[in-house]
Amino acid sequence: MSASTAIRRHHHLTLCTGTVQEDYDFHTKVLGLKSVKKTALYDGTVPIYHLYYGNDLGEESTILTCFPMRQSGRVGRKGSGQISAISISVPESSLGYWRTRLTEQGIEHHDDERFGEKIIGFQNPGGIDYEMVGIADDDRKPYTGGGVPAEFGIRGTHGITVSVAALETSSEFMDLAWNGKQTAEDGNAVRYEVGEGGTGTIVDFKVDPSLRQGTWTFGEGTVHHCAFQVDSLEVQTDVKAHIEGLGFTDVSDRKDRGYFESVYVRTPGGALFEATVSKPEGFLIDESYENMGKDFQVPPVFADQAAWIKEYLEPLNY
Ligand SMILES: [Fe+2]
Repeated sequence: MSASTAIRRHHHLTLCTGTVQEDYDFHTKVLGLKSVKKTALYDGTVPIYHLYYGNDLGEESTILTCFPMRQSGRVGRKGSGQISAISISVPESSLGYWRTRLTEQGIEHHDDERFGEKIIGFQNPGGIDYEMVGIADDDRKPYTGGGVPAEFGIRGTHGITVSVAALETSSEFMDLAWNGKQTAEDGNAVRYEVGEGGTGTIVDFKVDPSLRQGTWTFGEGTVHHCAFQVDSLEVQTDVKAHIEGLGFTDVSDRKDRGYFESVYVRTPGGALFEATVSKPEGFLIDESYENMGKDFQVPPVFADQAAWIKEYLEPLNY
């Protein structure tokens, strides 16, 4: 596979959220996702939780990951040059179920429509915009242990919305570096799809020159990045070389994230993207299927500080 076709679909979406408890309860109890891993951010000097949610095995493009930031006191600023909303795929026939469920859980929501798709918009407890999009034929397997019947369950990611001041540099990046194809326009929004296209591959750009620049730090209330699946470390190496060869030099080295290996790129529109290769063991690399996502896993990079990290992090009841 050449670097020009390497980006397959989303791998995971990563958000900076509020308290660890409300983050955990929202994703597992309201949305009915599985906790597939409880660990901490591999970077920095002050421990921050890193919670992963997804389907039963945490397969690619079903994963949302969250850094609950409240304990750190660091708050993000929404704005341009940032992913401003995430969308998740649910069966089209389940939208009525979800309206009722969100109302019962005390989550304000509204109906919307964009690119001809029916949307329920709401916010997570940290104020990040989520959209549920009704999709007729998404064959990704939902998690069924979280109280949401399979016929209604979340299938995985659908798309992201990137807020940009102007479209041109983002179009160049999507066309030349990220094997994206522009597939639609709706008002001030332009849709790109990667790989084979469809749900789980979508990047929408919303153009708004009046917005100030949003934060790039880990800060509560903002989306940090979108990771995209690539098939192998060899392809990932090619992607990095290809992007750098185009002149986009803001590309990281490969980083071992325990469950996958990541190369990050700051896109010219401002959003942070990641090209990600899953490890063959996936989320079973450090715990059994039966225990998956249950107990806190100390990141290997902080193994010598395990006791202190566990003591420092705020308690999480589950
Ligand atoms: Fe990531």
